Amino acid sequence: MADYVGAIDQGTTSTRFMIFDHGGTEVGRHQLEHEQILPRAGWVEHNPVEIWERTTSVVRTAMNALGLDAGHLAAVGITNQRETTVVWNRRTGRPYYNAIVWQDTRTDHIAAQLDRDGRGDVIRTKAGLPPATYFSGGKIQWILENVDGVREAAERGDAIFGNTDSWLMWNLTGGVDGGAHVTDVTNASRTMLMNLETLDWDDELLSFFGIPRAMLPEIRPSSDPDRYGATLRTGPFGGEVPLTAILGDQQAATVGQVCFSPGEAKNTYGTGNFMLLNTGTDIVRSRSGLLTTVCYQFGAEPAVYALEGSIAVTGSAVQWLRDQLGIISGAAQSESLAAQVDDNGGVYFVPAFSGLFAPYWRSDARGAIVGLSRYNTNAHLARATLESICYQSRDVTEAMAQDSGVTLDVLKVDGGVTANRLCMQLQADILGVPVSRPVCAETTALGAAYAAGLAVGFWKSPDELRANWNEAERWQPTWSEERRAEGYAKWKKAVQRTLDWVD
Ligand code: G3P
Repeated sequence: MADYVGAIDQGTTSTRFMIFDHGGTEVGRHQLEHEQILPRAGWVEHNPVEIWERTTSVVRTAMNALGLDAGHLAAVGITNQRETTVVWNRRTGRPYYNAIVWQDTRTDHIAAQLDRDGRGDVIRTKAGLPPATYFSGGKIQWILENVDGVREAAERGDAIFGNTDSWLMWNLTGGVDGGAHVTDVTNASRTMLMNLETLDWDDELLSFFGIPRAMLPEIRPSSDPDRYGATLRTGPFGGEVPLTAILGDQQAATVGQVCFSPGEAKNTYGTGNFMLLNTGTDIVRSRSGLLTTVCYQFGAEPAVYALEGSIAVTGSAVQWLRDQLGIISGAAQSESLAAQVDDNGGVYFVPAFSGLFAPYWRSDARGAIVGLSRYNTNAHLARATLESICYQSRDVTEAMAQDSGVTLDVLKVDGGVTANRLCMQLQADILGVPVSRPVCAETTALGAAYAAGLAVGFWKSPDELRANWNEAERWQPTWSEERRAEGYAKWKKAVQRTLDWVD
């Protein structure tokens, strides 16, 4: 009996497979990290073959641990790190180059040229995105221009592009033996190549990057009763399971947090932070540095859009304390170290390691630690790091209020960093609104499972899913208005230093 739905969550640092029951409760999972390849300053790559191998392992291990086979799963959904770009040969199945990760800034010159050529505003209007290194379009152009033989193969239709959703879907459905080359509207909306109104690849946008249409996957709804394909008997599921959902990971978390009504928002704390505000079927153009993106599209229903505040470096700033500075041995220690002091001791840390994303969009910005005196210790730096996560989120909520008029009365949060209670308390203090975390912290995988299950009738409607959402913990603001305003003013000054750094 098909009592469960599965979700593959292919993230920036790891890949996991999770299994949920009808109540949205996790029944099993397995997770494996993959290598972060850092060939030069600003370059970040992943090996797509390693990601596919990790995917097959996590599926097999999670299924075997529970004694499940393909027949126990009603459907499987895929959710993924967005923008990360893979180009591979459809005849050999081999990637032409490592995946270029969303954090990679090598395409800075491509983004800057788009604005110089006056094309930036066309991209802003049609795709809802500012020209930036973050998105897939420039990464595809870089591979076409820098890897031998790819352009000719792309024009022949042999070299094909996908984000990691398409790469996994193609491999799961047969690979060189006719794998499905598809993506969904949410992933396509992160490329600078899709027109938000038509939900199709746009010839003018493709021409800006010199990308042949033949490279691109078919764009489908995020939850599709007309399944994209099925897993294979010879694949990691050992049988046929309908593949019925694809969602970018931040959109999946929005679904997992059941933000189905306009005005509902969530903030996910992972490697970076991503706040999405559901704007319904309206395409709201940002004047304040946010992205306009597709939130989800369920079957034949109209697409639902979102405003998004993307922050490149939040959880990865904590990893930097661990890996580069060595002042903590694990992420959890950032909380105990920061708790040794009552405040930041005047220290502000702006971790602009990949430039600054929303709402600044300055790929030339570089990180800064300001306000140091001899009094300061590792504990102040740890606290300033946690505060930087929260201040960056405050920047984004300010922009959202300006663009949409929506001021949040509570912030729904999820993601790994929400296990850090001090950080969540600081978030409530810095925003001045309560912060609420649900029982299921794995909202990304849950959202992909929901979308997959809706497509096959495992769940009947989004309303049915709302009943599965339960609050686990809530943090109330404790700072005075004065302290909040003073801290934020200092943060803005610190941000200015990172923008002034480059000539
Ligand atoms: O846009 C990038 C985002 O999708 C990455 O999310 O959780 O893999 O860091 P995560």
